[in-house]
Order: sequence, then C-alpha cells, then structure tokens
Amino acid sequence: MEYKELLVSLNNRVLHVQINRPQKLNALNKQVLAELADIFASVQQQNEVGGILLSGVGDKAFVAGADIAEFQHFGYAEAKQLAADGQKQVFDAIANCSKPVVSAINGFALGGGLELSMACHLRIASDTARMGLPETGLGLIPGYGGTQRLAQLVGKGRAMELIFTGEMINATRAYEIGLVNKICTPAELLSEAERLLQKINQRAPLAIAGAIKAINAGFDSAQNGFIVEIEEFARCFDTADAKEGVEAFLSKRQANFTGK
Ligand code: COA
Repeated sequence: MEYKELLVSLNNRVLHVQINRPQKLNALNKQVLAELADIFASVQQQNEVGGILLSGVGDKAFVAGADIAEFQHFGYAEAKQLAADGQKQVFDAIANCSKPVVSAINGFALGGGLELSMACHLRIASDTARMGLPETGLGLIPGYGGTQRLAQLVGKGRAMELIFTGEMINATRAYEIGLVNKICTPAELLSEAERLLQKINQRAPLAIAGAIKAINAGFDSAQNGFIVEIEEFARCFDTADAKEGVEAFLSKRQANFTGK
C-alpha cells in the first residue's frame, strides 16, 4: 500500500510511523486509519522491524482526535461500524502487536488520539503535551477503546472523572496517574522513544511477544492471564534465545539474541 497520510521509515530496526496531517492536527480520518491498519497487519511478518514508534508530524499535536467532520451525519449503524472496524483493525491490532509499540506524544492527544496512544504498549510525552477524552462535550463517548483502556491505565475513578469532565491534563499530571511512562522535552522526544525501543530490542523478541500476550490476556475477560502466562513461559523454553540467554548468563557474557 502506498501511504499518503503517513510518513514511514526504518531506522536501526525501529519503524517510525508519523501521522502527517498537521494542518488538521493529525485528526484520524478514514485514510489514516486504513493506512495504520495496513502497517499493523504487515509489520508482524517483517523481520527487519524490531519495534514501532508512532508519532504525529508538527509540534502542536500527536492526534487531536477522530476526524469530527467525517461523522457529522452518522446514525447508529454507521457509528457502530466505524467503532467496531476501527477497534479491530487499528486499536486492537496495535495493542496485540507482537512487537513493542511506543507512542511519542508531542502535543494534543485528544479523543481518538489519546485512545491511539493508549493502544500502544508504552507512552512518552513531551512536557508540552495535553491529553484528554473530550467526547462527552460533543454528545458522544469514546469509541476506540477509551472507556476500557483509560480505566485499565489510571483506574476506574480517574477514568470516570476524565471522561465525565472532558478535562485536558498536562504531561506532569499524566505521569503522576500512570497515563504516560516518561516525560521529556520536545527536542528529546523522538530520540528518547527510539532509545527506549533500542533498549527493548536488545532483549529476546519472542520473550517480549510472550509478555505482551500474557499481560494483555489478563485484561481480556475471555482469557485467564495466569494460564496464558504458563503457556508463554513454557514456549520460551523451546526457543534458541532462551538457551542463549541462560547460557550467556552462566558464562558471564552478553547474550546475543536472534529472535528464534
Ligand atoms: N477533527 C477534525 N478536524 C480537527 C480536529 C478533529 N478532531 N481537531 C482539530 N481539527 C482541525 C480544526 O478544525 C482546524 O481546521 P481548519 O484550520 O480547517 O479550521 C485545524 O484542525 C486546527 O485546529 P484549531 O481548532 O484551529 O486549533 P486550536 O489550537 O484553536 O485548538 C484544539 C486545538 C485541539 C483544542 C481543537 O482543535 C479541538 O478542540 N479539537 C477537537 C478535539 C476533540 O474534540 N477531539 C475528540 C474528537 S472525537
């Protein structure tokens, strides 16, 4: 697929994916969502990619939400389809990606934009970032997993407060409540996110994939996270990387993982 709304580049095994609609504060229109779906459907098979760094072009916004203009005339059926397709093809695909996904929040992350960053495994914010779920002010609620993922990250009471009031919070507050993993200056944001991914990439990729699966299973009412953990733990023992990791530790040397 040719990307029109995304800038995509590979650097040191990190796939940089930048949403490129700065004139609309990178709002998620149909095309952006289709392109993100395509990226996350194909990245699993790309051996040259160790992790994904998601950001927004410009210094004003990560993503200011779903493109409000697109759903102006929606009714029940269209809205249901939009939310269901978006959750499955983009937001759940990111959350369940077997490779680590980090979002770099350089400004506004509102509505679908905050939902997009919450679907990522980790979040780094610049000290200028502003985050919130303002949908109730439009007569709506979050539809891309926000009611669930915000409560999982910051707790039910804080999620209710943020969704009911639509209040925007700054990076310091987001860090205090566990919504972001780290804060840095705007100038350091992308390099800091890339550094984090490089650090993760030095570890065994199949072990990271197993950890993602087990942690996510605990938040899925159809699964038992403890049972998934046992299975993923056991599967690690069939990998060359676990043999290498244990042997390297016992021989007091650095492990050299191959992802096998
Ligand atoms: N959907 C569609 N367009 C959006 C958008 C969105 N979610 N967020 C911003 N834009 C557009 C604006 O319409 C404007 O376009 P225009 O220049 O063609 O008029 C452009 O992006 C710049 O935004 P603007 O509102 O002029 O910037 P601002 O600095 O005054 O305000 C925000 C910034 C983020 C506070 C404001 O844009 C906003 O409230 N956006 C909507 C946030 C939201 O409710 N998101 C949840 C959607 S479900």
